[in-house]
Amino acid sequence: MRDWISYWDSDHPIYVNARHFDVHYANIADDIVRLLPGKQARVLDYGCGEALHADKIAAHCATLYLCEAAPTVRTRLKERFGKVANIAVTTPEEVAAMAPASLDLIVANSLLQYLKREELLALLKVWYRLLAPGGSLIVADVISPTQSAIADVLSLLNFARKNGFLTATFIGLVKTTLSDYRKLRAELGLTTYPEAEMLKLLTESGYDAARLRPNLGHNQGRMAFRAQKSPALSG
Ligand SMILES: C[S@@+](CC[C@H](N)C(=O)[O-])C[C@H]1O[C@@H](n2cnc3c(N)ncnc32)[C@H](O)[C@@H]1O
Repeated sequence: MRDWISYWDSDHPIYVNARHFDVHYANIADDIVRLLPGKQARVLDYGCGEALHADKIAAHCATLYLCEAAPTVRTRLKERFGKVANIAVTTPEEVAAMAPASLDLIVANSLLQYLKREELLALLKVWYRLLAPGGSLIVADVISPTQSAIADVLSLLNFARKNGFLTATFIGLVKTTLSDYRKLRAELGLTTYPEAEMLKLLTESGYDAARLRPNLGHNQGRMAFRAQKSPALSG
């Protein structure tokens, strides 16, 4: 396995059991629903993963585009949501070819750590072009260089305790430690950003940016940002 997309395309042990899988995506869907600007919103979930509860989001907006780079994950998304009229499963290339100003909200949750810095810079340009004036980009679950892996584990354990999958999480953590995730993390690393640097990158890419609290999902040691395209701009 040579890259993160191949990892996410594989049969990985990140979700420790069906309950974890379900509550993780239920949580993310609820958090995205809270961010929707209205029923008419055209929304893109970029690097959406399995997006198990995307239909909940789609019920509250006009169109939901699910963009995922891993082909096997995309196939499952199509199987899961093929019958939901306002959900479209897309590739990153299809998103890059979308018409300018065709989206009101873009969410990228738990994605940036798997992108090289230059890949993020290129995506910030694509997203800027796609946002309608006044639209928002939410980048969330961003890891700062000071966030420890132990803090991530403690947050997961707390989430697991509250949601009844604590034992499975202990087993899952051992499996992850022994899995390709750890090897790949040692080989490729995760991209991290201090808060000030993320705000600078967003501002330099043309957005009005601010820290957004709370973060999406359970890990409040990680950061979320809202980056808006000024209502006056349309390019
Ligand atoms: C940690 S998962 C996050 C999934 C989901 N957003 C969530 O919050 O649970 C990261 C996802 O991003 C996808 N991904 C990684 N690089 C990508 C890229 N360049 N374009 C689109 N998706 C990408 C991976 O395949 C994986 O499904």
